[in-house]
Amino acid sequence: MAYISKLNIVNFKSHSNFKENLKSNNNIVIIGPNGSGKTNLIESLNFFSNSKSIRGEKLTNLIKLGSVGRAKVGIEISSNNNKFLLEYNLSKNNEDITKKFFVDAKAVKNLKSINEIIKFIWLSPHMEKIMYEGKSIKRKFIDKLITQFDENFNFSLSEYKKNTTERLVLLKEKRDEKWLRILEKKISESIFEIFINRRIFSKKISVLSKKKLLNFRSFEIIFSNQYENYLDNKNDALKIIENILYKNRFIDEISKRNNFGINDDDIVIKDEKKKISSDYLSTGEQKAILLSIILSNCHLYKDNNQEFIMLFDEISSHIDKSNLKKFFKEIDKFETQTWYTGNDKNLFQVIENKAFFIEIT
Ligand SMILES: Nc1ncnc2c1ncn2[C@@H]1O[C@H](COP(=O)(O)OP(=O)(O)OP(=O)(O)O)[C@@H](O)[C@H]1O
Ligand SMILES: [Mg+2]
Repeated sequence: MAYISKLNIVNFKSHSNFKENLKSNNNIVIIGPNGSGKTNLIESLNFFSNSKSIRGEKLTNLIKLGSVGRAKVGIEISSNNNKFLLEYNLSKNNEDITKKFFVDAKAVKNLKSINEIIKFIWLSPHMEKIMYEGKSIKRKFIDKLITQFDENFNFSLSEYKKNTTERLVLLKEKRDEKWLRILEKKISESIFEIFINRRIFSKKISVLSKKKLLNFRSFEIIFSNQYENYLDNKNDALKIIENILYKNRFIDEISKRNNFGINDDDIVIKDEKKKISSDYLSTGEQKAILLSIILSNCHLYKDNNQEFIMLFDEISSHIDKSNLKKFFKEIDKFETQTWYTGNDKNLFQVIENKAFFIEIT
């Protein structure tokens, strides 16, 4: 079980100086009115796992307005029965911002060292659009979940981005045939890796939803594309992808974009009970599926002995009382610290006895 025992926030958004000592309670509930800083508080924790703001803000916006231009977030955390002090500092120089991480007061290069100790899994109302907007946001969301779980996937994504950009430049400027071939080979490898890993991951969490979420909704995430049947054989798939890239050279050059790539993977998120795409579900049902995806993802972490802490911003939005109760039951199974925000304490009555409430005004 992982838990934060001390929290110290300085100049992060609306919080000038926020300190809290916590026991190993499984549930931490932050209650306060609109604008009191609930989301900011759990967002400050999320930055131990994510380099980007979930609300799409610039990092400079994270430092408290009117402060000296430095923010600091520190936590004492228990993970795998060891205690660690984790910290990050943000400092502003003109419009630039530098972010530094520390583990037990020693500077570490990047988030990787922290992610080995603990991962934060976060859900906010901003993410609800994943369920009703198009395919692209759904693909990105799943890619993000895979990346958080497996660093190698991030490598495939960045290789793909780097090499496709270079190929477009090469097509426009000078057609170095040999180099183009090499690039297209590399791109094909990345596309194949990405396609395969999306399918493996989606299958894993879909199965987990059916096996583990007995009180909650199960789902199936299906990736497919027109070359699906070839993906079983790596050599065939690579040949086909390389050939498409070769054939597309002219059209890619003219249109200045990749006409075939990782975004040609179709994605459908299906509700297992109704056997229909989540696009046809109600807002509350869509949120329930989103919660199921997060829960199944957490089961994957648990099965792999990876410690994690969950952060749920406005958990109750669009979720009725009965579903919320079922959700809390599912969370109980993880026996790890879970943070919630809300503006009504009554919503958390079911877990009242095993929760620590932080009230902010
Ligand atoms: N860099 C910053 N410096 C100072 N204040 C900021 C900064 N960024 C955001 N804020 C303020 O932080 C306040 C709290 O925001 P937050 O989103 O945490 O509220 P909340 O309690 O989650 O409210 P809600 O119930 O509406 O979700 C807002 O009023 C916002 O203007
Ligand atoms: Mg909020």
